[in-house]
Amino acid sequence: MADLDQYQGPATIEKVAALCRRRAFVFPSSDIYGGLGSSFDFGHYGVLLNDNVKAEWQRALIQEREDVVALDSAIILNPKVWEASGHVAGFSDPLVDCRTCKLRFRADALDQSACGRKPSKHPGEFSECDLTEPRAFNLMFETYVGPVREDASRAYLRPETAQGIFVNLKNVTSSMRVKPPFGIAQIGKSFRNEITPGNFLFRMREFEQMEMEFFVPPADAEEWHAYWIDARVRWHVDLGLRPSHVRVRPHTEEELSHYSRATSDIEYLYPIGWLELEGVANRGDYDLRQHSEASGTTLEWIGHEERYVPYVIEPAISVVRATLAFLCDAYDEEVVADRPRTVLRLHPRIAPVKAAVLPLIGKNSAMVEQARGLYQDLRRVMSAEYDDSGAIGKRYRRQDEIGTPWALTIDEQTLADGTVTLRDRDTLAQERIPLAGARQLLLDRLDQPWTLRP
Ligand code: GAP
Repeated sequence: MADLDQYQGPATIEKVAALCRRRAFVFPSSDIYGGLGSSFDFGHYGVLLNDNVKAEWQRALIQEREDVVALDSAIILNPKVWEASGHVAGFSDPLVDCRTCKLRFRADALDQSACGRKPSKHPGEFSECDLTEPRAFNLMFETYVGPVREDASRAYLRPETAQGIFVNLKNVTSSMRVKPPFGIAQIGKSFRNEITPGNFLFRMREFEQMEMEFFVPPADAEEWHAYWIDARVRWHVDLGLRPSHVRVRPHTEEELSHYSRATSDIEYLYPIGWLELEGVANRGDYDLRQHSEASGTTLEWIGHEERYVPYVIEPAISVVRATLAFLCDAYDEEVVADRPRTVLRLHPRIAPVKAAVLPLIGKNSAMVEQARGLYQDLRRVMSAEYDDSGAIGKRYRRQDEIGTPWALTIDEQTLADGTVTLRDRDTLAQERIPLAGARQLLLDRLDQPWTLRP
């Protein structure tokens, strides 16, 4: 993989965020009250895009494999889970306070923060800056279970979905036909009281994670770690990320989380630089041993002739980091026939809408009838849209901006010979195809490998 210095492409975080708002992908949360830091709501197309990303993850990790099963564990777990996992003691960022401007910063990210008094400088750089020594700040959100707000009822919103998997290991092995190497996969919300949010969807306080814990014999852990790094890179590239925008970066000894024996980040070249898209960790037997000891339930694999605590390989990513990478990579601007065009060149399988059906003349009842018939036929098997309002060029541009790969236009010729125009979002090529075969043709195209960058 090539190692670029900086993002090459027309996307900026600001342009992508503006398109997301304009086209109902993402709205600022609690907008009419002025928003809430790093919280976002997803509009119609954002929901469809996220759902497609999750479906592709489930397809690759569960549906197309025989060795991974699904789980959906609770968000609020017994707080002892977080004591045993090490999160109560150690899931923290080092923070410093500025006595002058009263702001709080992550000690390890001062170079990415702006001084409260002189935003052009970093905290500590301005003569009046007066920073405290770093202190640990736990990132878990606390809540109380039951009617009494006391220490005994304190609980946490989970900061990762992984622990719900570890504490279910015995339930899964005793109820499903699994044996190592096997995985348990889960998608669900996680919560972190992040101190340096920002950069649109990149770092949120509430986000969905897609995590898989893969339990293996300890002797095979390194091999499986390499396998999953490779498999996850391929997933991203197969779904459209440019290979030159994806790289693998192993953690240094100092960077490793308390549970990790080795971690590699799959990094994506976002318009703001190379940043973590997904982490693939070898968690060893840390979690299972911790929970065995704290709960008194031994979490191990007992086979016919063997007995051991499995090692765990964990690919972990959030839906938003994936969605943001797909949006940035897909974002394109060009000039077509002297007019600017913004287009999302999303892989058809993750595009929120697969096909738009457009009667050329919205007031022509024969065209409308044919178009609505085709639309109803298509929407039974794929996400489709019908649009008869405005000039055809404007309708195409709208579909380009939401990343719809195919538009089918019903015109005079359709009424005469039963063919429609199929317009390709990326090449802008138009071909005539039989109306009757349109549904199958699109289903076939959705099934084909996709490469872009015409
Ligand atoms: N179970 C391991 C774990 O949670 P992590 O590196 O802290 O490891 C895994 O998080 C992934 O979750 C990251 O690679 C990233 O994709 C995503 N993620 C973490 N914090 C996030 C945040 N504040 N906002 C959005 N995504 C986040």
